[in-house]
Amino acid sequence: MRSYSPILILCLAPALFGAPKTVWDGVYTSAQAERGQAAYTAQCARCHGDDHRGSGNVLIGAKFMQQWREDNLHNMYTILRDTMPRNAPRSLPDGTYLDIMAYLLKLNEFPVGKADLSLSETAGIMLVAKEGPAPVPDFALVTVTGCLGPMTGDNGTVTLASEPVRSRQPGKSVGDELKGALSKPEGKRKLSLMGVQYNNEGAESGHRGEIKGFLIRLPEGDKLNVTSMQTSADKCTP
Ligand code: HEC
Repeated sequence: MRSYSPILILCLAPALFGAPKTVWDGVYTSAQAERGQAAYTAQCARCHGDDHRGSGNVLIGAKFMQQWREDNLHNMYTILRDTMPRNAPRSLPDGTYLDIMAYLLKLNEFPVGKADLSLSETAGIMLVAKEGPAPVPDFALVTVTGCLGPMTGDNGTVTLASEPVRSRQPGKSVGDELKGALSKPEGKRKLSLMGVQYNNEGAESGHRGEIKGFLIRLPEGDKLNVTSMQTSADKCTP
């Protein structure tokens, strides 16, 4: 049998063992970031400033990380394309949005790599802090899959729930996204729910389902301010 060097095996380990690729793996080139800088100056700087701190200082540092960490780059791409430039969303070619993303990654000090960031790769790349993956930040819109407990008035619970993950769309998932949510393995988390009253159409206690909402971390346990809920035919014991 051919033998492989331990270094090679170490390098391959994340790919082999399913650790997701992150922005720390070098996912854009400096040439791409330079193109992004030129596009930024032409399309974005008049609101966000030459120092990148205008319009809420959302492009560098703490607010940038709060908004994008624990999410994949495809969601960033979609939001940028669909909302920016604010006065003319979707007005730039795909490649320009990607170039600008490369520039934002550079501004936030994520390392340069050997290949341009391409659209097909974005879904597989997670944005995480230097310390690695962490729980989703407070107030983020998230989705969990779990067993819906009894609902009283505006309140409820979800048990046996999966770890909350980022969502960028507050409404009920459909199609493959819904299938993916419902096929998640049973989790161990319990969250209390508020905002149930106006969002419980199609959601039945004692069934497994998908629940989306804004995450509120409290000393007594995490809570979701629900934006949508739906359950499947699968029964469960909350
Ligand atoms: C006409 C003004 C304007 C232009 C041009 C503009 N932006 Fe924005 N942008 C805003 C405002 C206002 C916000 C909201 C800031 C906040 O949430 O506090 C924003 C927010 C953002 C955000 C945070 C995400 C969000 O949806 O809130 C990003 C990222 C962003 N802009 C990137 C860009 C990029 C990249 C360009 C150039 C392609 C661009 N913007 C052009 C005004 C603009």
